[in-house]
Amino acid sequence: MKKIILATAAATLLASTAMTVQAAPAKAATCVGCHGADGNSMVPNFPKIAGQHAAYLEKQLKDFRDGFRKDATMVPFAKGLTDEEIKELAAFYAAQTAK
Ligand code: HEC
Repeated sequence: MKKIILATAAATLLASTAMTVQAAPAKAATCVGCHGADGNSMVPNFPKIAGQHAAYLEKQLKDFRDGFRKDATMVPFAKGLTDEEIKELAAFYAAQTAK
């Protein structure tokens, strides 16, 4: 009995971990309009960010936020992000497939 309960608990834990990895971070809701739901933007002026390296995405977002990279459109969306949110966003878009 104990084993079954443990196995069920482990399976539930695995399932919820898998879900959190795939779900878009909350902040991604603000990026959808320009970069698409999975980072494949439909409009050429908005770069595709799907499948780019997480370290690259993280650096670009921090550069926008901290004033090292300038773009009147993109900067306001990077401004409010914490390091943790940037890490989550970078990991999410890096895990998407570029189309
Ligand atoms: C209103 C449109 C808009 C929104 C909303 C927006 N972006 Fe952008 N984003 C842009 C534009 C335009 C650029 C290109 C800037 C440039 O040319 O330097 C860009 C560039 C980027 C880049 C750099 C890509 C590269 O190839 O170097 C990243 C990463 C990025 N955005 C992530 C995000 C994230 C994450 C969000 C949500 C928090 C977001 N963007 C919201 C318009 C937007």
